[in-house]
Amino acid sequence: MTASSPSSVTVRVPAKVNVQLAVAGPRSDGFHALANVFLAVSLYDRVTVTPSDGLRVTCSGPDAAQVPLDASNLAARAALALAGRYGREADVHIHIDKDIPVAGGMAGGSADGAGALVACDALWGTGASRSELLEICAELGSDVPFSLIGGVALGEGRGEVLTPLEAGGTFHWVFAVADGGLSTPAVYGECDRLRAAAGTDPGPDQPSASPALLAALRAGDAVALAAAVSNDLQSAALSLRPSLASTLSAGVEAGALAALVSGSGPTTAFLAKSREDGERVAAALSASGTCRAVRVAAGPVEGATVVAG
Ligand code: C5P
Repeated sequence: MTASSPSSVTVRVPAKVNVQLAVAGPRSDGFHALANVFLAVSLYDRVTVTPSDGLRVTCSGPDAAQVPLDASNLAARAALALAGRYGREADVHIHIDKDIPVAGGMAGGSADGAGALVACDALWGTGASRSELLEICAELGSDVPFSLIGGVALGEGRGEVLTPLEAGGTFHWVFAVADGGLSTPAVYGECDRLRAAAGTDPGPDQPSASPALLAALRAGDAVALAAAVSNDLQSAALSLRPSLASTLSAGVEAGALAALVSGSGPTTAFLAKSREDGERVAAALSASGTCRAVRVAAGPVEGATVVAG
């Protein structure tokens, strides 16, 4: 550490919702080609890194007990990957202040990976380029590059090949947090199983983004976006967690413009016309007793950002 290095760095990283998640059949490497339209929303984890004798991860927040603190944590893996690339030790204490639902389909783990990477990069003054950071993100996981860039973007390949998209306004969302998480590989596996049973495997080719969805995003038109959202993993998430159907119905009855499973779930996402409508949908969902917690958020918002240090 040089005299001008910060003593600690805090990075704020957003959650995401997928407004389109088109999933191809399995590739030979087990991954699925996607047309994955990510939108970053204003639920945030904060990742703080401080020099330490060795690598250590701690976590605070209501669901902290569910976060693994060992080497499987993406934040730890990010610090090790950056340190390895720059030939140094990952001697850092990473603290995650967690507000994004855990294993909820909102890229909370990916957010912590991107946050730790940006924070360690600033702490160590590595001078890594944006494209180097994005390369490390892609090695960490399919959703990690998007957590770094935020905004709205189309993810192709396994989701890591990003094209930033234009959004003509802010969209208002309500998220219903379910009890417990869902394993992402299990949801992809269930999607494959359901398609094989129905004889509807689409094959491994790259799916395309929906032109109507991209136009709705560009126009900032929530009604048009609601008509265009889709998630190919939704039936698999519902098959593994049938109770999500009543959460989705409760949001629709409460006046949401659209109701869908967020990514691989089990968090469900509801698009509202305005912040006020979102508050109404949130209150009705809370009263419905069909979910563990309800959160209101808006997006797009910026990706991983240094807020202190
Ligand atoms: O890339 P990541 O490690 O986040 O992916 C977790 C798991 O989700 C993969 O091991 C795979 O089972 C599944 N996955 C997939 N196709 C993708 C992204 C993820 O099958 N495009």
